[in-house]
Amino acid sequence: MNSVFITRRIPDAGLEILAKQCEINVWPGELPPTRTDILQHIQTADALLCLLTDRIDEEIIQNAPNLKVISNYAVGFDNIDIAAATRRGIPVSNTPGVLTQATADFAFALLMAAARRVTEADRSVRAGAWKTWGPTTLLGADIYQATLGLIGLGRIGQAVAQRARGFEMRVLCYDPLLPSESIPQGVEMVSLERLFAQSDFISLHVPLTPHTHHLINAQAFQQMKPGVVLVNTARGAVVDMEALLHALLTGQIAAAALDVTDPEPIPADHPLLKLENLVIAPHIASASTTTREKMAVMAAENILAGLSQQPLPNCVNPQVYEVN
Ligand code: DGY
Repeated sequence: MNSVFITRRIPDAGLEILAKQCEINVWPGELPPTRTDILQHIQTADALLCLLTDRIDEEIIQNAPNLKVISNYAVGFDNIDIAAATRRGIPVSNTPGVLTQATADFAFALLMAAARRVTEADRSVRAGAWKTWGPTTLLGADIYQATLGLIGLGRIGQAVAQRARGFEMRVLCYDPLLPSESIPQGVEMVSLERLFAQSDFISLHVPLTPHTHHLINAQAFQQMKPGVVLVNTARGAVVDMEALLHALLTGQIAAAALDVTDPEPIPADHPLLKLENLVIAPHIASASTTTREKMAVMAAENILAGLSQQPLPNCVNPQVYEVN
């Protein structure tokens, strides 16, 4: 029987699919396995189902003599050395589509929470600071008919744009990779400079690549319209966290709402966490029960396809089939 190393307990819907056909070895810890743990378990695994918290690099891939498939329990796959997997002829999959709506919901929740200072208001009430109704208490920014700048217009960016239409927002987008025939109605494609200069809200929806690493840096913050709110549900390292701290401290931007940070988790004593104008969550944008189940099923189905030498339904390195 093929053996699958699963680096954390995923929803049963996925485990049950795998357990019917394979021997499953689920890492029992609440925290991720260490690199040494992964190196040890990968030696005998025929398949690896990993999470975005696992760095699957060349050394790990080279130390996996039986490995036939890597299935990432996430749509992003910047945690895996795809080139190294491809060189070894190992197909890699992700979980696209099934988490689009949950992630877009959460991006919008963060946007609204930061604009209307929801978490700050919650903290102030709990601290006993609600003495009376005040004409200028906790004033925030309007969302209705404001301008939203989307950086990246893939599935999730488009789903956020759809939500913005309900608020009659003007939607600007920067995405140099989007073919012109795929531009949705009601979205204005603009340069990054124009998006920075005109957006009241900026929401990030790009994968982490060498091109997008620190795309939002000190220079970018300087170009942003005063009062802007930045939302990041993509990957932490798309934003230079030092530059973000400076932009929030100096009032260059009004607020930020982050589901992702660099590093993750953000250290509990990080200066950003002292700021009232930061809304933060522990990378949970896709964390709805049904979404996480669908991700588990998808990840499991990719493993089974890989083990039976079938093309993976959600392969991110299809070149692997050309090479071998
Ligand atoms: C992903 O899938 O890449 C998200 O960051 C977590 O669901």
